Amino acid sequence: MDDSIIQGFSKYNKQERIDALIQKYGFQEDLGNWLATFENEDVAIQKIIDELSENPVSSFHVPFSLAPNFVVNGKNLFFPLVSEESSVVAALCNAAGFWARHGGFHAEVLGTEKKGHVHFCWNGNPEYLQSLFPEIRSKLLAESAFLTAKMEERGGGIISIELKLLPHILPNYYQLDACFETCDAMGANFINSCLEQFGKSLQEYFMTSEKVSTGQRDCEIIMAILSNYTPESRVRAWVECPVADLLDGKSEAECMQFALKFEQAIRISQADVSRAVTHNKGIFNGIDALAVATGNDFRAIEACGHAFASRNGQYSGLTEVQIQDGKFRFSIELALAVGVVGGVTAVHPLAKLAIRILDNPTAKELMMYLAVAGLASNFGAVKALVSVGIQQGHMKMHLSNIMNQLNIPEGRQAEIQAYFQDKTVSFSAVEAYWQKQFSHEGTESQSRNISS
Ligand code: MEV
Repeated sequence: MDDSIIQGFSKYNKQERIDALIQKYGFQEDLGNWLATFENEDVAIQKIIDELSENPVSSFHVPFSLAPNFVVNGKNLFFPLVSEESSVVAALCNAAGFWARHGGFHAEVLGTEKKGHVHFCWNGNPEYLQSLFPEIRSKLLAESAFLTAKMEERGGGIISIELKLLPHILPNYYQLDACFETCDAMGANFINSCLEQFGKSLQEYFMTSEKVSTGQRDCEIIMAILSNYTPESRVRAWVECPVADLLDGKSEAECMQFALKFEQAIRISQADVSRAVTHNKGIFNGIDALAVATGNDFRAIEACGHAFASRNGQYSGLTEVQIQDGKFRFSIELALAVGVVGGVTAVHPLAKLAIRILDNPTAKELMMYLAVAGLASNFGAVKALVSVGIQQGHMKMHLSNIMNQLNIPEGRQAEIQAYFQDKTVSFSAVEAYWQKQFSHEGTESQSRNISS
């Protein structure tokens, strides 16, 4: 392998990047042609995709799937989902279908405010700074007006700016703690632009105000950045039905037994960190799939969700269950921030379609749909875990991946599926069965060994 350090890689064009890849790893000379087969034939669309990131050499495909029957506050929608985990989509479809017949999902937004901070150090008297702060705040607001005018027209803007003194973190350390409403936008650029402008105005105030003594003009801006933790941007979703209706075709006693086991599983997720992480991973299986489909930043959503899961001092499961008066109620409360305008949502052709599939939701509606996707995904996972186990569904999907890896023709797959219905699925077991039963048929490898 060629270990030389590459300078200016981002200035290379696509072919030059591919050439560098071939040279470093000794791949075949026609690797570029193979990579090009994953790209869109429409040059304009490929340009949009390429420009979403840096240094692209191809496009990485993940299925864009649909889960029908999501009834949310009475509205029946398809949920567009991008996930590489087939059982996630299957679980969402099952949960949506079940709850569509049992009253649907309900959801409400509890708040939409987001925060950002200018982190700075100043070595003067904190009380004196506090007394100057009303004047400083007016300056910050006035000098960022050019950034906020459009957002204000849409009903958003800066809600508040507070000064926080935090000497226990660093000597002379303060934060400008600002609160924003960004309406239908995720608002990251808006918030960060405002914060950087606050930083400039603050420094200028210290430099020029006659109320600041000469020895205290130095204000060190450490950084200005939004917080992805948005506990005031919050959403709740829930489902409820009589316990007796929880399992189709089962007796009341069986349904109650299932409900109680389900409740135990939720209790464990709330008390045990090891289980809570997996439990919440299952929730984010659904949330991320919908977030990615709509062009939203799933890393921000997850980071916020996991911090919110620790809000009481211990990381715990995000869902709750109540069994009362013969009723089963299952709910989730989440902190999250999303947008339906701007960013990838406005650019990626499939994200644009996803937004249309969701009937052009407002950001608040999308918050509700994401919470619903999380709740549905968790319902499907916990239901399987406390009944048939997770492997039954997973292995069915796993089998189909294995058959594709082995290039088993579609016409033969149903037979293999039937054979493995009551057997343990593993790559070697499927391969052995395939070779034994159908070895005479042979298969031509459709995938190329790129390193040969
Ligand atoms: C797998 O992707 C997700 C689950 O592990 C979630 C859970 O255990 O609740 C099934």
